[in-house]
Formats: sequence, structure tokens, C-alpha cells
Amino acid sequence: MLIKDLSNFVDKKVTLKGWVANRRDGKGLVFIILRDGTGQCQCIGDINLIGEEKFNEAVSLGLESSLIVAGKVVADERQIGGFELHISHIEVLQNVKDYPIAKKEHGIEFLMDQRHLWLRSNRQWAIMKIRNQIIFSIHTFFQNEGFVQMDAPIFTGNACEGTSNLFETDYYGDKAYLSQSGQLYGEAMAMAMGKIYTFGPTFRAEKSKTRRHLSEFWMIEPEMAFHDIFDNMDLIEKFLQHVLKDVLANCQTELKLIDRDTALLESSLGAFPRLTYDEAVRIIKGEQDVDGQNSIKSLEDLLATTENRLTEINAEIADREQKLKTPGMKKGEINFNQNKIGQLKNEAKDVEEDLRNIPQWISSAKNFEYGNDFGGSDETVITRLFKSPIMVYDWPHDVKAFYLKRNPTDSRFARGVDVLAPEGYGEIVGGGERETDEALLTQKIKEHDLPMQEFEWYLDLRRYGSVPHAGFGLGLERLVTWVCKLKHVRESIPFPRMYGRLMP
Ligand code: 4AD
Ligand code: MG
Repeated sequence: MLIKDLSNFVDKKVTLKGWVANRRDGKGLVFIILRDGTGQCQCIGDINLIGEEKFNEAVSLGLESSLIVAGKVVADERQIGGFELHISHIEVLQNVKDYPIAKKEHGIEFLMDQRHLWLRSNRQWAIMKIRNQIIFSIHTFFQNEGFVQMDAPIFTGNACEGTSNLFETDYYGDKAYLSQSGQLYGEAMAMAMGKIYTFGPTFRAEKSKTRRHLSEFWMIEPEMAFHDIFDNMDLIEKFLQHVLKDVLANCQTELKLIDRDTALLESSLGAFPRLTYDEAVRIIKGEQDVDGQNSIKSLEDLLATTENRLTEINAEIADREQKLKTPGMKKGEINFNQNKIGQLKNEAKDVEEDLRNIPQWISSAKNFEYGNDFGGSDETVITRLFKSPIMVYDWPHDVKAFYLKRNPTDSRFARGVDVLAPEGYGEIVGGGERETDEALLTQKIKEHDLPMQEFEWYLDLRRYGSVPHAGFGLGLERLVTWVCKLKHVRESIPFPRMYGRLMP
């Protein structure tokens, strides 16, 4: 029996198997919050029903002890999940002492070291359930649209996304790289099938600690024959809206658990504004407003409110620390205050980081040089002004990948499109229409200093039945991070791989 199915068994006797998420006791009763991976349920043991021996065992259970309980399901709206279990029998599989993750605030590095256990906590559980829904919706969307899923290799001989972040490995004495993107293979497969998508792990050696970069991440890459940049944008919008709708329809419990304000997910179900690079640059630099909002002015306002918040936090910490000095304070109250102080100190760290970042955002926005690619801070600056993802297209051709098609009416631009998520999140999708002209493509491969012989097979796609085609890549973890409004991409994947972390 699973906790998620309890509603079908009200007033009936069931058996649950799981772990202790919390426990308290008093006056001959023990209250165990049991979790089984599908939900949580309060199980109540009465000394008069289960006997003294079992009762004493139950009150000694530490966090994450494993057990089997049988009892009657009672409907009670006030309880988590709406039900509780009145225990008639309890069997302890393992009584755990000193579970490393206590019911208090821990620092992020400690939690990352405990990732194998941390995954059991409420918040991480909810994030992973949302990730699972997103993955499921991605497959249903593309399958329903007639796409064929095909897999690209992970060992590759060529660089798809530049040579600066390749993971090199030994392949029977030859050099090989871990795939940065399945796209080039996706193009070959689209010529066989019409519409395909790949969904696999991709690798980028990013030797810096940012909140958006993983060394290993999962990418969904559709590729479509006979699609141009505009068909591509239509598809991206329809696809992302499908996924968001599913999350909103099926993950309300999880979204509440992580305190996600869903207003901006709801507003993302409307059309995504499409901006050319030129327009986006004017907005970043504060030369063009969005709905009466100016990028620079709104950042200056943000700086002021953030400074105020830090003052408030520090005042509250001081206040609670003072309170803790009161003689004779009860244990419960001491714990409560210490916990609050822990939370406030963690928030203060985030706010201090914002206070370091915002002035940088302002100066990089003011000094943005036309012709450059967007950096993380430029994306943050522009996306704060919108209530849905935006699509920025027609990029200066020399800052984007070699395979993008030139705009036929203005060759300064390449037909790439980036989708930037709102609330400061930035790029979640990169894609575009592909160059079909063999000569132009060859020239680009040379300009990018890529080894021509590794791209001969790719050029064959332009020699034998070349057609207009386009596609895109969605970074799964970037999407999960935005949907769950996480501070950092590291919580969006079960076991993150990033600069400075390979364990657990
Ligand atoms: O923009 P990128 O580099 O585009 C490509 O790889 C294309 N070949 C995709 C295509 O057209 N088929 O990467 C695509 C997406 C980014 O928008 C971002 O969401 C994600 O992959 N991404 C990363 N996610 C986490 N950590 C990293 N280091 C990432 N690098 C890219
Ligand atoms: Mg990109």
C-alpha cells in the first residue's frame, strides 16, 4: 500500500512501509510522520493498543528509521495528506541513531556532501517529482507531435559548441570528447526521419562556479527537416507551454511544498515575446522600456530594497540573539530561536551575494557593447522585465555557433534563437535554423579552427538531399531550476557534477 493511495482505503486496515520523517510523543501516544516516497502520513501509536514493548520501541525511533506499520486509515483534513493511520502493529526494520541531517538549518556545502541522504528531504523530494513530470511531459509532447526519439553518441570526435569546454578522453589510444550536444547527429537523423529528438547527457568543462553551469547536464534536442527559424520558434513556444501546463496541472502539492509562487508560470502560458538581438540590446542598455519599466532604473530600485532587507535581517538576528540570553528559556523556544537565526543567516548570505551582484548587473548593462553575446548578467537584466520567457533571435553571426544559417536579407546576423526564462533566470534554450550552403559552412568550420576531416560526414548532409532545417536544445536542469525557482542549478539534478564536485 502506498501513501498516495490512502484516499481509497478510509476506515480500512492497511500496511505501510517507509521511513521516519519525524517523531514526537506524549501521554502514552507516539506520532510518527512516515514517508514512503509517494507521500507522508502521520501514524499514531497508542500504548494501550500496541502494548508497552512496541510503544517503547516506537518512541525510541530516530529520524530515517525504517519500518512497517499496519493500522486503520482515518480521514482528517488537518493532517498532511488528509489522512492518518491508527497503528495496530509496528515492525521496526532498522532503528537509526544520529541521522546526519538534523531538523535544523544546514549550510549548502554540508548538504551537498550529504546529497545521497538529502534527496529524502521534503524539498528535494518535491523538486525531483517536478523534474520527473517535466521529463514525462517532454516525451509525451514530442511523441504526440510525431517526433522519433533517437540517441546521439556520447563519445565524439568533433566539437559542436566550441573547443573551449571539451572534456577530453582516451578512446583506444585516440582522442575523443564527451558530447557537448547531440545536434550534429540530430541533423543526420532528421534527414532520415523528418522530425527527431535526442534526450541524453551532455558535458561541458566549465571551470567556474556559477549558479547556471553544470559539467554534466541533460539536453533535449529536437531537429526538424523543412523548418525555418520561425517554425522553430512556434514549436519552442508550444512545447514549453505544454510542459508548464502539465506541471501546473499535476504538481500542485510539490509546488506548494517548495513555496513556488506560480503566477509567472501561469503567465508563461501566453505568447512569448520575440525580440531581435538589436531590440534586446536596447532594452538591456536602458534605451528602450518594457511596459514602462526601465532596466537600469528597476535594478537601482532592486538594490535599494535589497539593502533594506539586509538591515532587517541583521536586526532580527540581533534581536533573537538577545532573547536567547533570557534566563530560564524553555528548550522548545531556544530551539525555535536558534533555528530562525540559522535561517536568517542563510538568507543573509544570499542577500549579501545579491548586493555584490546587482551593481555588476547595472554596470554590465550600461556598458554592454553591441555585437557581443549576452552574459549571465545581461540575461538577468532583461528577463526581470518580462512575465514569460522571451525569444531573442538574429544574433551577430560571429558570436554564435558555426552551423547557424545567415539571415538571407541581412548577412550580419545568424538565425539563432535563445529562449530566456523570466525572473532573472536567463537562457534555457539555444537553437536556430541551420546553414545549408556547403561553401558557407566549410568557410565557417575553417574560421572556427575546427578539424575539417571530422566534419566531412556532416557536410555530406548538405551534399545529398539538403533541405532547410532547424532545431533547438533545452537544458533540462535550467528548466527545472526556473520552474522550481531554485537559487542554483545544483538542486535540479539528483547528483550534480560541477566544477569542484564529483562526490557523492
Ligand atoms: O546553447 P547551447 O550551447 O546549444 C546547443 O548545444 C545546441 N547545439 C542546441 C541545439 O540547437 N540542438 O546549449 C543548449 C542549452 C542551453 O540553452 C542551456 O539550457 C543548456 O543547454 N546548457 C547548460 N545547462 C547546464 N549547464 C551547462 N553548462 C549548460 N550549457 C548549456
Ligand atoms: Mg547557448
